[in-house]
Amino acid sequence: MRPKILVTRRIFDEALNLLNKHFDIEANQRDIPPTPNQLVKKLQGKLGAVTLLACDFSDKVLVQCPELKIISNVAVGFNNIDVKAATRRGIMVTNTPGVLDDTTADFTWCLLLATARRLAEADKFFRTGKWKGWGLMQFLGHDVHHKTLGIVGFGRIGKGVAKRAKGFDMRVIYTDTQRVDEATEREFGVMYVDKRTLLRESDFVSLHVPLIPETTHYISHAEFALMKKTAILINASRGPVVDEKALVKALKEGKIAGAGLDVYEKEPKCERALIGMKNAVLAPHIASASVETRARMAMIAAQNCIAGLSGQRPPNLLNPEVLGR
Ligand code: DGY
Repeated sequence: MRPKILVTRRIFDEALNLLNKHFDIEANQRDIPPTPNQLVKKLQGKLGAVTLLACDFSDKVLVQCPELKIISNVAVGFNNIDVKAATRRGIMVTNTPGVLDDTTADFTWCLLLATARRLAEADKFFRTGKWKGWGLMQFLGHDVHHKTLGIVGFGRIGKGVAKRAKGFDMRVIYTDTQRVDEATEREFGVMYVDKRTLLRESDFVSLHVPLIPETTHYISHAEFALMKKTAILINASRGPVVDEKALVKALKEGKIAGAGLDVYEKEPKCERALIGMKNAVLAPHIASASVETRARMAMIAAQNCIAGLSGQRPPNLLNPEVLGR
């Protein structure tokens, strides 16, 4: 008998075929997100789960799935999984780091440029037949070149964003819990500053931190009060890093000029007021969504699952403490 696994949402055929060589699969290729109860039901008798971010593996779910040995997330972030609880229960948790850094950095720039230059608004204007000819004062946005970019979180994606800023002749400052060494700062052309300085001096603030208790509502009322009135906030990290209610207030009151968002506090929803705001560009969590990257993410997740269930250490194991128990 081959081990049984669950693939909780639709993934690429290539990854599914690979998994098929090793396991009996229940695959949700219809892509309808299971409720927690449905998830528990589907996980009965399954040793592994290959899952997307939108499925919550809370302790409440895990306690009802005693046979589960591995949760293989098709994402680098893993805030949908209670890793501590999984570790306690001896369940391996894996993710897909590295592969999506460049794609996410590209998309961060896509959001930044679209927000600064009002692209979404202008596209809608054109499509709805409102354009009656060229005008000097139409869709005036903000320059990007020669401005100051503030990067919060100087990990792999933050670095990728900094690298791309070189072409725009920007001054790039960053903040993080740890300063990188001088050689790295020189290589990326960045300067370390504290959070307050970054917020005060940046024309663009771009967030690249993981979601942990310390980064929840990292940007809220006090932070918006420090930012320039002309500043633009970009968030392609995790929704709860920004206090969305405070963001709405800041945009309404002109505390900042705009926001480019790929992530939201309560996905797939956002604060309703954002929908009507012209100075917000709203994307549906697609920063890593290139064919190449998403296909690689699915393959990595499949490989992690295969390794974990064949007695090997999965390449991207997040909780090695569970091994050798
Ligand atoms: C991740 O991988 O964590 C992204 O948010 C989705 O690609």
